[in-house]
Amino acid sequence: MNKQAENFKTIMEHIKKLIEENKKRFLEELFEILRIPSIGAKAENKNDMLQAAELLKFKLLDAGADRAEVMPTTGQPVIFAEKTVHPDLPVILVYGHYDVQPEDPVNEWKSPPFEPEIRDERIYARGADDNKGQLFIHLKAFELMIKTNSLPCNVKFMIEGEEEIGSPSLKDFCVHHKDMLRSDIILVSDTTMIAPDVPSITVGLRGLSYMEVEVTGPNRDLHSGLFGGAVVNPANVLCKMIASLKDEKNRVTIPGFYDDVLELTEKERQDMARAPFNVNQYRKEVGVDEVEGEEGYTTIERVGIRPSLDVNGIWGGYIEEGAKTILPSKACAKISMRLVPYQKSKKIDKLFKDHFKFIAPHGVKVKVKSLHGGEGYVSPTKTIAYQAASRALEVTYGKKPVPTRSGGSIPIISDFEEVLGVKTILMGFGLESDAIHSSNENFPLYQLFKGIETIPHFYKFFTELNKR
Ligand code: BES
Ligand code: MN
Repeated sequence: MNKQAENFKTIMEHIKKLIEENKKRFLEELFEILRIPSIGAKAENKNDMLQAAELLKFKLLDAGADRAEVMPTTGQPVIFAEKTVHPDLPVILVYGHYDVQPEDPVNEWKSPPFEPEIRDERIYARGADDNKGQLFIHLKAFELMIKTNSLPCNVKFMIEGEEEIGSPSLKDFCVHHKDMLRSDIILVSDTTMIAPDVPSITVGLRGLSYMEVEVTGPNRDLHSGLFGGAVVNPANVLCKMIASLKDEKNRVTIPGFYDDVLELTEKERQDMARAPFNVNQYRKEVGVDEVEGEEGYTTIERVGIRPSLDVNGIWGGYIEEGAKTILPSKACAKISMRLVPYQKSKKIDKLFKDHFKFIAPHGVKVKVKSLHGGEGYVSPTKTIAYQAASRALEVTYGKKPVPTRSGGSIPIISDFEEVLGVKTILMGFGLESDAIHSSNENFPLYQLFKGIETIPHFYKFFTELNKR
């Protein structure tokens, strides 16, 4: 081993020791962040959003940033921070988000969503994984690199508060602060890995078109005895329309929907199939007897390389306790379509709108609006960043990670490439069992501390590989 490598080994041992010694403080700090109900979607939490942003600013300053600021946008504020080691060194831009999903249904939680608790070696709280826990990995890795004098390159942080509602203000923010955000790579931990003993790196994200539809029939709710059977019922109609959006092979029936879908080669599909996946465990985990999806594709392919269409919510008529006999005047639904690379969300919005209006029967009025959307992302594997991430995970997890494509979306990633001209590496430490967006969201302590240990390796490999 040469002198430099030996040096780094000592530093890493020091960092590991510091993680061990500081576990209690780290958890207290993370809990402090998790206690703030920073739900971006709700106006009533506006103050909590600000409080979370301010707290993160101070955490970044405490960790050793040269500067950290809460910056206004047209929506929720962004925290920006930086630490310059030397202007000639590469810049890593860490991106994450402090907004969380709403906690409902709140009585499904075993412990209150904003009162973090540790049970069976996991932290339970809204945002424990998505994204406060994963973001915290970066804050503490940064702090420890500074403490041990081993930060090998420059770092910037951009932490937003609108990811869960589609990042409506962030693209503009990037356009206006292009220079401030100049970097060599964007590093994000907001995805999953297969398992601690099967580390993986996400190389694909799906895009999204999210629509809301409204079907109106009679001019008011009608007595279901006096009018039932004689007047069009928009709830019945909506169900029928939605049902017709997929055929018996579970393919989406909207004309043109598959036009731009990239078909993978047999070789690529074989490579994908090598990632370990147990369909029985998957069924058990989500509590269904059978999986379903587009004919001719495996479960991994259905979420990774195929688009999908799903109702996210549906309502109309009487939904309170007991019975009320009416034909509703209106029925509505929220529908998400997850898209794959080359499908453009704006184009899919339009195809959906036209088709949904076209299939509406006479006698109802249909309104369709697009709520938000964004493009998918494919992250190349033949890059310095991928190499660095792969080596870092191999050192700390003891196994070479496999590339995987995720079914989730982070639409701003494709905007980063478009506006800033910078690629993103997705080093996620979440697990599928973390129940993100669900009740009892959690994050394993093992993944939290392993993540903090892994990130300094990434910094080192990335900086070294850039020098060559
Ligand atoms: N962290 C998720 C995305 C994710 C999770 C990607 C797991 C891959 C694996 C992110 O916070 C998220 O939930 N994104 C939204 C985006 C939408 C609101 C535009 C999503 O996917 O629903
Ligand atoms: Mn999320």
